Amino acid sequence: MSRVDSGEAPTRRLDDGGVPRSYRVGVVGATGAVGATILEVLSERDFPASEVVPFASERSAGRKISFNGSELECRPLTPGTIQGLDLVLSSAGGKVSAEWAPKLVEAGAVVVDNTSYWRMHDDVPLVVAQVNDDAVEGHSGIVANPNCTTMQMVVALKPIHDAAGLERLVVSTYQSVSGTGQSAIEELKAQARAVLDGKPVETNVYPHQVAFNVLPQVENFKDGDDYTTEERKVMAETRKILGFGEEVGISATCARVPVITGHSESVNVQTKRDLPPEECRELLSQAPGVVVLDDPGVGVYPLPIAVAGRDEVLVGRIRRDPSHERCLNLWVVGDNLRKGAATNAVQVAELLAERDLVRVG
Ligand SMILES: NC(=O)c1ccc[n+]([C@@H]2O[C@H](COP(=O)([O-])OP(=O)(O)OC[C@H]3O[C@@H](n4cnc5c(N)ncnc54)[C@H](OP(=O)(O)O)[C@@H]3O)[C@@H](O)[C@H]2O)c1
Repeated sequence: MSRVDSGEAPTRRLDDGGVPRSYRVGVVGATGAVGATILEVLSERDFPASEVVPFASERSAGRKISFNGSELECRPLTPGTIQGLDLVLSSAGGKVSAEWAPKLVEAGAVVVDNTSYWRMHDDVPLVVAQVNDDAVEGHSGIVANPNCTTMQMVVALKPIHDAAGLERLVVSTYQSVSGTGQSAIEELKAQARAVLDGKPVETNVYPHQVAFNVLPQVENFKDGDDYTTEERKVMAETRKILGFGEEVGISATCARVPVITGHSESVNVQTKRDLPPEECRELLSQAPGVVVLDDPGVGVYPLPIAVAGRDEVLVGRIRRDPSHERCLNLWVVGDNLRKGAATNAVQVAELLAERDLVRVG
């Protein structure tokens, strides 16, 4: 198990004078659902930060954010405020990253980006710690964090692929509202209250009421496509991370459910060689970042309320698909804000620090 797997604090690299190296870290989107979790994880994992600088929009300029017992003041992104940073963990949406990640790199920082904007660029590594760590090598200043749905799935799939070779995946997701951000959490709470109180329900974030409902749409149907942008991301990002060519089939259906935190996924896995459920269970119970919870007869299986606040991906309901001899069905649950976003971003920052890659060029 590597240091990153064990949850221990990362090694502090020594600078030329033998002094432990620490970094000036920017957190862009610090007032958001992911950014707030990044701050928590940086603190919990004792990331070697000499200073943490929170950034948000102009609206939040001057807002105080608690970090490690002190109050930090939010700054807007400007050519002046971004100077002197070593590392930036960014989660303020694709438009902000498109504009500001290159400027941050130009100013000397390495950017670990949580948005979808850079993920499929050829010169940007798409990294899931404990799955494809070596991809961080040779970055050009930006390292991308995958989509939360993809992230938790590949943590469970990598050991299966290594042992038995993946041939085809069919995934159906049940995604929580925190995957959309803080505003969606507020919308679900307000709608649930309104329904229970018999009041009119307001819908702003999603196209339909999400409380007491299931929406077979996560993100948008772009340019007449009959798959959503989220479904396209899951399929494309899984290929990039696991290095799949077109010979591996992937099909995704993503749904939004009225859960605050924790995405659940039903994954049908077809392997090249037969993988009995017992062997799959054993394999996954040894895998870094995975916890197997699989005793369904007594109600033991992964649940979103059990994963909220945890960094591991939970896997259960491991069973043969009766319609195909080399297919298994799995139920995979992860905290979309932690391993699905913030924890992975901090683990990638740790990898960069351990490998002396917190530098551009
Ligand atoms: N939520 C998840 O589970 C998840 C998982 C993986 C990846 N992501 C990605 O992470 C990003 C953020 O998601 P989220 O859920 O944290 O959204 P969120 O709760 O809506 O937070 C958005 C953050 O971006 C900031 N922001 C907006 N415009 C800005 C600007 N012009 N300059 C600087 N900061 C700006 C906001 O600041 P103000 O408070 O000042 O508006 C806020 O801090 C998205 O790209 C999302 O796709 C999310």
